[in-house]
Formats: sequence, structure tokens, C-alpha cells
Amino acid sequence: MSAFPGAAFPGARPRRLRRTPALRRLVADVRVRPADLVLPVFVKEGIAEPHPIGSMPGVVQHTRDSLKKAAHEAAQAGVGGLILFGVPEVKDARGSGADDPAGIVQLALADVTAEVGDDLVVMTDLCLDEYTDHGHCGLLTDAGEVDNDATLERYAAAAVAQAQAGTQVVAPSGMMDGQVAAIRAALDGAGFAQLPVLAYSAKYASAFYGPFREAAECAPQFGDRSAYQQDAGRGADEGVREALLDVAEGADAVMVKPAGPYLDVLRAVAEAVDVPVAAYQVSGEYAMVEAAAAQGWVDRRRIILEQLTGIRRAGAGMVLTYWATEAAGWLDEQ
Ligand code: PBG
Repeated sequence: MSAFPGAAFPGARPRRLRRTPALRRLVADVRVRPADLVLPVFVKEGIAEPHPIGSMPGVVQHTRDSLKKAAHEAAQAGVGGLILFGVPEVKDARGSGADDPAGIVQLALADVTAEVGDDLVVMTDLCLDEYTDHGHCGLLTDAGEVDNDATLERYAAAAVAQAQAGTQVVAPSGMMDGQVAAIRAALDGAGFAQLPVLAYSAKYASAFYGPFREAAECAPQFGDRSAYQQDAGRGADEGVREALLDVAEGADAVMVKPAGPYLDVLRAVAEAVDVPVAAYQVSGEYAMVEAAAAQGWVDRRRIILEQLTGIRRAGAGMVLTYWATEAAGWLDEQ
């Protein structure tokens, strides 16, 4: 009868190792551990209750109090870190809240590091867009362009302010050229030579950030970020170049963002650098799954775990994900 064509290759039956759950578990070599996950959190100044984010069901803008509770829950679940975003009440052209010692992010940082700083790594996003009234990631020239070099001074000041408030990792996300070197020099000069920099190195101008801009109230008031964030149409080599430059400037770890649509970049960066690599599963990746799951169109838990596994398989050590605490609970059960 019809012979199995593979019989010509006697050893080749890849299905053997898939037969039972125990076999699959034994041979799996891509794992996601709670400690690999980093939870992004938003804290808003001047609100009395946590404020739900419409486009990110399950995610809120925290009060200082509710943030502490969320940080505790993450630590309890074994999550490896959290990354804090501040949303100030008042914004201005230079993003003063970014380096104001009494600014919301600095105050919340001190709270959170005091509470959970020994149990997980408390990181801060370092950018100006949450603090500027125009919503861009840097200072503007009179012509309305983002002024790279003038912005570096603002990032340096924000890095020192975050360091003084107790951050354990600064994560610059503004995509200015030379930002890692400027921040490293400022931190060293202020006595923070031991504070690591996790650079958002390969960060693309992406529609997947849409829901985040509601969460952080930072949509650009004119134009977009295409003149400083990377273009999706360029090959992975550009992401590698950005990552190598950041490492040369002193980055201790690098990030690729978004994750899912840029897994090729993630793989290429992971192969090119010898520092830890993070990937950020961003707000739009979260929102799409939540929307489809709410309709009953996908198996929410399986699809989340499959995505996290895919991101790890592509080369990420750490994964920033809004599902960090919940997913950590599932992973414990595995
Ligand atoms: C910039 C920053 C952004 C995100 C993280 N840091 C927004 C942007 O670049 O427009 C997006 C994260 C997400 O979409 O989940 N401070």
C-alpha cells in the first residue's frame, strides 16, 4: 500500500517528541518565567481613584496608592520588574515635570521603591512626551522640529532626577541620537555610576502605540514621531546599528519595540549584542488581543502565552507586557 515516503529517511519522524504532554514539556527549550516579565504602569497626578483606560481594558492610570498595590501584586506574582510612566496634571513646552523633584513620577518612584524595591526591579521610562504640552519627545525648534541636542540636556536632567528619587534602572525611550551617552555622563557626574541604562534602542514609529497615548495622555498635538522613531520599511540592520551604537555609548541592556511586528529585528539585535535584550509588547498588541478575546474570537490565555513565547523565541530575555502580573500567575502553574 502507499508507503510512508519518509521511510526513505529512517530516523525522520519529528512527531515522536510531540506525542505526550510530558514529552513536549521535557523537550521545550523556550520558556517564559515570571522573572522575565516587566509590568508597565501609569501613575497620574491629582486623581482620587484609579482611572480606567478605555482602549486598554484592565489597565488603569493609577493613583499613588493604587500603584503601590499593583506593585505589590506584581512582586507577589514573581514578576521581574516594573516600568513607571508618570502623567502630570500640568504640561509645558519643556516638559518640566520630567525632572521636577516634586513631579508625579519622582514622588511615585520613591513610594514604589520603598515598598517593593527589594523584590523586583523598579525602572522608569525616560522621555519628555508625557510632560510636554505639544506631546513630542523633545524640545522643539522655532520651526517645530524636535531639536536633538537641546533635548539631550533635558534627558540628562530627568535621569538625575529619577536617580535621586530612587529608580533602579533608567530606560530612555525618546530616540534622540546620543541619548545614552548624554544620560550615562550625567548619571556618572551625579554619583550614579552604578545605575544601569536600559535603552529603547530599536524603536519604530508605530500605530501600535495608539492606546498608550490615551494612557499617558501624550499624543503629539501636531505631526507624528516619524522624524525620530524608526521607519518600519527599513531592514533589521538599522535596528542592529541603533543597538550597537547604544551599547557603545554605555547601554547596559537594549530594547526592541514594538515586539510582535518586529521579531526579525529582535532576532537580529539579540545575535548582534552581548548585553541583555528586552522587547516591549506594546499597547496596541495588548488592545487587539483584548478586543478579540472580548468577542470570544480567540482563546485569550493561550494567545497571550503563545505571543510571549514567540517573543522569547525570537531572542528577548525580558518582555515588557501589560499582562505581566496575570501571566506570571499562569506560568507558575505550568
Ligand atoms: C515614549 C513611549 C511610548 C511608549 C513607551 N514609551 C510612546 C511613543 O513613543 O509614542 C509606547 C508604549 C506602548 O504603546 O505600550 N515615552
